[in-house]
Amino acid sequence: MILPSILSASHLRLFEKLTPLAGVAPRLHIDLEDGVFVPNLSFGPKVIQEIYETFGFALDVHYMVQDPQRFIDIFSGIPQRWISYHAETGILPNELSFPSGTSIGMAVNPDSKRIPDAVLSSLDFVVVMGVYPGFGGASFEDVTYDNVSWYHSRRTERRYSYDIVVDGAVSRDNIIGLKQSGADHFVVGSGIFKHDPLKAYTELSNLCDNYDGHQ
Ligand code: DX5
Ligand code: ZN
Repeated sequence: MILPSILSASHLRLFEKLTPLAGVAPRLHIDLEDGVFVPNLSFGPKVIQEIYETFGFALDVHYMVQDPQRFIDIFSGIPQRWISYHAETGILPNELSFPSGTSIGMAVNPDSKRIPDAVLSSLDFVVVMGVYPGFGGASFEDVTYDNVSWYHSRRTERRYSYDIVVDGAVSRDNIIGLKQSGADHFVVGSGIFKHDPLKAYTELSNLCDNYDGHQ
């Protein structure tokens, strides 16, 4: 599945950028930033609430913040189907309180150490970052293929059930290689919103689906 990520879309023109994807893309990726864990700021709860109410996307919220609990509490009034936060915070999932019914993921930067088994076994998904986090349009890190492969092998060996999501610099040039490495889903920002959003979303979805057909 392709998850459009609005960080790199024009924030002034979000309505027009998202309208063609409503009812087409089931799951929208939202990046939250604190200016501490990453050197950038993104969205507050008001605009996210309005996006949810206007378009009805299921929200996949990526907390790129040093203090996830503080931000999870700030955004707690907004229905979030998936929540991920960063392993680099050193905080364990059982140390956090999540809204009920959310699927919980842990994101890992390109150079991060592997998530230990005791945590992996409890996760619904792992977000393997294809870039160093903070900004849309960052450069793809080639180590991402190895990182995806490792989480894929580990899942198979240990019979874990997490999904593997790649976030950052996913494009038509690397999406098949990332699928071959074992990724299940792809977060795409610039690859959708710097183009015609519906056309780019459809092309990337078709690439994924066609690959699935040959597995
Ligand atoms: C990067 C964010 C991504 C970002 C992806 O730090 O977590 O979700 O929006 O955007 P692109 O596809 O432009 O790298
Ligand atoms: Zn993200």
